[in-house]
Amino acid sequence: MTTTAAVIETATTRDANVLLHEEAKRFTPGGVQTAIRIADPPLCIRKAQGAYLWDENGKRYIDYHAAFAPIILGHCYPAVVERVIETIRQTDLYGVTTTYLEVELAKKIVEHVPSIEQVLLCCTGSEATFHTVRLSRAVTGRRKIIKFQGCYHGWFDYVLRNVISAPDVVNKWDPGSAGMLREAVEHTIVCRFNDLDSVEQAVRDNPGDVAGIILEPIPHNVGCILPDQSFLEGLRAICDREDIVLVFDEVITGFRHNIGGYQAICGVTPDLTAMGKAIANGFPIAAIGGKRELMQRFNTRVGGDVFFSGTFNGHSSCVAAALATIECLATRDVHGHIFRLGERMRDGLGSIVKRNGYPCTVAGFGSVYTLYFMSERPVKNYDALLDNDKAMYVRYRQELVKRGVFEIPMNLKRNHISYSHTEADIDLSLEAAEDALQATFAARAAKKI
Ligand SMILES: Cc1ncc(COP(=O)(O)O)c(C=O)c1O
Repeated sequence: MTTTAAVIETATTRDANVLLHEEAKRFTPGGVQTAIRIADPPLCIRKAQGAYLWDENGKRYIDYHAAFAPIILGHCYPAVVERVIETIRQTDLYGVTTTYLEVELAKKIVEHVPSIEQVLLCCTGSEATFHTVRLSRAVTGRRKIIKFQGCYHGWFDYVLRNVISAPDVVNKWDPGSAGMLREAVEHTIVCRFNDLDSVEQAVRDNPGDVAGIILEPIPHNVGCILPDQSFLEGLRAICDREDIVLVFDEVITGFRHNIGGYQAICGVTPDLTAMGKAIANGFPIAAIGGKRELMQRFNTRVGGDVFFSGTFNGHSSCVAAALATIECLATRDVHGHIFRLGERMRDGLGSIVKRNGYPCTVAGFGSVYTLYFMSERPVKNYDALLDNDKAMYVRYRQELVKRGVFEIPMNLKRNHISYSHTEADIDLSLEAAEDALQATFAARAAKKI
């Protein structure tokens, strides 16, 4: 059997990324560990530091993918890595009672996130959102959940529907996977984002049966859709009126847009919050938090009746990473820096688009940005994105990758700026963007896409 090292060694005449991916495919279906890591062409990262990645060929990229959002400080960020190493030299995982690290992290989350009075740690965003759904059903004794077209909340049956839907199934029947339980999908109702009437209608159609409303306060799983303040406030009012649990899925927005999550920016407080990703700058940890009276239902408390468990919950490496990350967010001008660079990137892209008369829409918030391939317009919900040209979106990003700027070549995916990016990185990326846009529109003119 050829070893991976040997494959790389012999890759001088062929692309080492392709060779490694080919070898991976022999042992793993598709050769990737997550469906949305499929990239064309394949890109296998050998090392990373700060704002940069290096692939198996040794080529450098300015990274805006940020592993789908966790990397907020920069890759292998010294303050985080050092804290993790120092911690795991003396403590790891015990599976009994608690640790001083877990207590410290819980205190920090409660201190910073406005709506959170108590918190539980888990390992992934999907686990966190799963528990918000189960808890919502337990406390209300109801069955149905409302979600929004375009929002992603994880891979389990209750919520995996209507994320990036084909035009004919927008807001309709669009389960995300084979093997899902029909009843689970049916018990999740899909509404239009920024459309309170659609929510009122769903509540009327299911009297006394809506347990929870879950949303990404900014739906970043389709790029960036900004919420109307009146929409968020309206959801809060509906939930108060109908005794429905309001859940903010802040897995992307939490810590990235503000140390207190988007709720600290918009001033609307959910009953439950799911968090993950940027909380630990890339280490696998997530959290569910909320009102004490709701959280008290979990059976981590003697007498609680909502099951909560996980062998790896609170692993010291991840808790240490989260503590170090939160410390950086609290003591350095991380958000000021990444918001300034985000604005520089969006302004720069806007100028390029305008100067060249390209039919594109720049979108984003804070450190997040993207470029849709459709004429400029406000994006209020997923319907507006149906005009986005998917082939151009992907091709443009492939052109960027060729030019050493990594935005994952996948439709509607967003980009993230970290504390390690500099103004020079943004300016270099904007030069590459102008060039990549020219190549993309030239390919379209030549009918190659
Ligand atoms: C908003 C949101 N919620 C939940 C999840 C699920 O998180 P995980 O992939 O860690 O399970 C994601 C993942 O992308 C997400 O973007």
